[in-house]
Amino acid sequence: MRNLMNITDLTVEEIDELIAVAEDIIANPVKYQDACNHKLLATLFFEPPTRTRLSVESAMHRLGGSVVGFSEASSSSSAKGESLADTIKVVGGYADIIAMRHPKEGAPVVAARYAGVPVINAGDGAHNHPTQTLTDLLTIWRAKKRLNNLTVGLCGDLKFGRTVHSLVGAMARYTGIKFVFIAPEELKFPRYIIEDELDSRGIPYKEVSTMEEVMEELDVLYMTRVQKERFFNEADYIRLKDTYILTPEKLVPAKEDLTIMHPLPRVNEISTAVDDDPRAWYFRQAKNGMFIRMALILKMLEVTV
Ligand code: NCD
Repeated sequence: MRNLMNITDLTVEEIDELIAVAEDIIANPVKYQDACNHKLLATLFFEPPTRTRLSVESAMHRLGGSVVGFSEASSSSSAKGESLADTIKVVGGYADIIAMRHPKEGAPVVAARYAGVPVINAGDGAHNHPTQTLTDLLTIWRAKKRLNNLTVGLCGDLKFGRTVHSLVGAMARYTGIKFVFIAPEELKFPRYIIEDELDSRGIPYKEVSTMEEVMEELDVLYMTRVQKERFFNEADYIRLKDTYILTPEKLVPAKEDLTIMHPLPRVNEISTAVDDDPRAWYFRQAKNGMFIRMALILKMLEVTV
């Protein structure tokens, strides 16, 4: 039985295979519509945002499977004081696979120990978000037809944004990648990830504080939301939340084939005036998330089509 805790639990070859399966699902959805008949997915979301939950649930429904679950800790027995281990042992007895989101870093690792069925980490605190990264890789692949030789700009809350932490870990394994970190001093990309993933492999990166100074170099621009829920102090959030707003004017010097991404939800980071630009990929990115999660569920349940 396999779990997915971190994107690096998958080899580059396995990611390539998942992308190939997702492409096949996009081309031939009918072929997959009964692949998970009589299989049950449980979604345990101890943190409110519902987008990823809807995406995983849609993935399971589109494979012909069923779904149970909750989307807030307050509606689960943890509100009565039940331990995570007990919740997971019970749900592991009902379901064939579990997708879990938790505000505490490492909680899915604990869950995986007790579940008895495969567990997908659907986001743990500011730590990791491997299924978002699969979504991002499929999107970059569909936009560029390659995952190597790219200059990737990451902009916004690089400190608390788990999507960028996972994405850098994944992309650092491809050749010819350069990273550009665009963040204010207080929200800089974590030093430990730079040391572990980039310095140790000699991967080039630079850190800047405005998007204007690097716009023309970028192949991918990945915008992120300032993660309000991880701030200790409301005043800091208010001061930092609108540091970066991507507008059509700022895109003037950008490459014609720039890929603009955002894991969503968007607050103010991208002006809606950018949405009709053919370089805006974020809504296609959200849709890709469902297809790659279908491929992942098939792999984790060891279903072949
Ligand atoms: C992201 C997350 O939850 O980390 N969103 C998502 O998965 N759709 C990004 C975010 O909440 O800003």
